[in-house]
Amino acid sequence: MNVIITGASRGIGRKLARYYAKKNKVFAIARDEKKLNELKKENENIIPIVCDLSNINEVRKLRFDEIDLVICNAGISLPHAPDFTPYEEFEKLFQINFLSIHALLENIVPDMQKRKRGKIVFISSLASIIASPTSLPYSASKRALNSYAQSLRNMLAKYNIKVINIMPGFIKTDLIAKNDFYMPFLMDLNEGAKRIIDAIEKEKKEYAFPKRFYYILKMFNLLPLNIQDKILQKFAN
Ligand SMILES: NC(=O)c1ccc[n+]([C@@H]2O[C@H](COP(=O)([O-])OP(=O)(O)OC[C@H]3O[C@@H](n4cnc5c(N)ncnc54)[C@H](OP(=O)(O)O)[C@@H]3O)[C@@H](O)[C@H]2O)c1
Repeated sequence: MNVIITGASRGIGRKLARYYAKKNKVFAIARDEKKLNELKKENENIIPIVCDLSNINEVRKLRFDEIDLVICNAGISLPHAPDFTPYEEFEKLFQINFLSIHALLENIVPDMQKRKRGKIVFISSLASIIASPTSLPYSASKRALNSYAQSLRNMLAKYNIKVINIMPGFIKTDLIAKNDFYMPFLMDLNEGAKRIIDAIEKEKKEYAFPKRFYYILKMFNLLPLNIQDKILQKFAN
């Protein structure tokens, strides 16, 4: 198989790259050339691609042949704060977490449609379920991704292209190291990556985990909006 993984230099993406490179050619995308080259030294099947996903023109120039699996994993978050985000930071986050995905897929999906095969995986987040007042850009980018994933899945179903949306809870990586609050159901990176790989192999349309955390958030969403807002406002004060 030919596999693309974005955000392959660290965290979840690096774990996935190591796993898929055992038996497949993996195009590993990130900015950190040194870390990508270290991965290549471990396994010749890794092909480093240095690209800043916030530069959409750069992303649109990437070309690949006969991709079987693309894992759109790269993502950033801003420190949690109930502050109105400056436009430049908001735009950059949306470019990395959302717009770069469409820019990347633009040159991959037509070939998948012709070959009538392919898997597209998104790494969303349980943060997409709660519109947190302290991580507005992140929650909004991941909620946009959920909508994109469902639309794309049903648009591409007739081409036998599988679209899989994964919503993890907290996993121990650099991304959450800056969080100075209690993170419920915090999961080890190995366990998180294992669950993601399993969901991809089983072609689950949507996979949210840990389940207990997911159901708590879903139940919260069933509360009347007034009550939801009262609770959420406590985090903004
Ligand atoms: N960890 C969690 O608790 C958690 C929970 C839910 C969802 N997620 C999602 O899981 C995904 C992976 O997160 P992680 O925890 O593994 O984060 P991480 O350890 O911080 O790794 C992020 C990856 O994204 C890449 N990246 C960041 N900005 C980039 C840019 N401008 N251009 C290219 N690549 C860029 C980084 O590579 P370079 O720095 O080398 O560019 C790195 O490889 C993200 O989408 C995140 O939102 C994480």
